[in-house]
Amino acid sequence: MSDSQRSALVTGATSGIGRATAKKLVSDGWMVFAAGRRQEHLESLAAESGQLAGKLVPVATDVTDEASIHTLFTTIEAAGGIDTVLNIAGGALGTEPIAEAKLEDWQWMIETNVLGSLRIIRKFLPMLRAHGEGTILNLTSTAGVVTYEGGAGYNAAKYGQHALTGALRLEEAEHNIRVVEVLPGLVKTEEFAYNRMRGDESKAADVYAGVSKPLTADDVADVCAYAVNLPHHINLDEIVMRPVKQAAQHKLIRDTE
Ligand SMILES: NC(=O)c1ccc[n+]([C@@H]2O[C@H](COP(=O)([O-])OP(=O)(O)OC[C@H]3O[C@@H](n4cnc5c(N)ncnc54)[C@H](OP(=O)(O)O)[C@@H]3O)[C@@H](O)[C@H]2O)c1
Repeated sequence: MSDSQRSALVTGATSGIGRATAKKLVSDGWMVFAAGRRQEHLESLAAESGQLAGKLVPVATDVTDEASIHTLFTTIEAAGGIDTVLNIAGGALGTEPIAEAKLEDWQWMIETNVLGSLRIIRKFLPMLRAHGEGTILNLTSTAGVVTYEGGAGYNAAKYGQHALTGALRLEEAEHNIRVVEVLPGLVKTEEFAYNRMRGDESKAADVYAGVSKPLTADDVADVCAYAVNLPHHINLDEIVMRPVKQAAQHKLIRDTE
């Protein structure tokens, strides 16, 4: 890695937004450590990124597992370290109202979105502080600032991640670490709704039915890359991005034809 080359950890890099963001940063010349649990997805991403300007290093990682994060850390440290962390790993499980909430779904969402980000941040903060110009980008959601029926578990997780992000920005300014939050609305990715609907393809398709242009993983990746490519003194605190057809959480325009 050259002295001027930027370097990042991207979690959630096996699919959707994380994968697109990792690829975008590599195409911008970054050294990217791509993390997620599915090794074969990381390998295919590394193969796809082979001809791009930067470099991608796949590191199979589970953000709910401290030992796995420690292995990730030692791999990155041995390779020269990073200046940027993008916490993109996360997701939703279920759409039940609170009256029928499944505790294990809530536990999964909080473990992955909130505590997963916390574990990664806590582990890498000393490295970012030592660098002197660190950046942390947390990918939360509009579900982290607006509640909706059937969304309580995901809301609780994303509100938690949103709160963590706000406090972190205040605490780390003294260490010259900028903290960016990207809050997307409806993004059509292959796995997000499919996983949320527990593998029911028809219910997953219904999430996007009639919405002519939802956001794509590449749309969100472009915004994340823009934010972390800016000169370091510029902190885009909170970037809310939605498709035009989703003017608000409650107002999603579905074309009838
Ligand atoms: N799609 C949307 O509408 C939308 C809107 C706003 C915000 N978001 C947020 O954007 C992020 C990415 O969503 P997406 O749409 O790209 O969904 P996705 O394709 O399902 O991606 C989720 C990613 O998280 C990783 N992940 C899950 N559990 C993990 C664990 N324990 N350890 C490590 N990685 C883990 C998955 O990798 P492995 O399974 O391989 O570990 C995968 O790479 C999530 O935080 C999501 O909440 C999505």
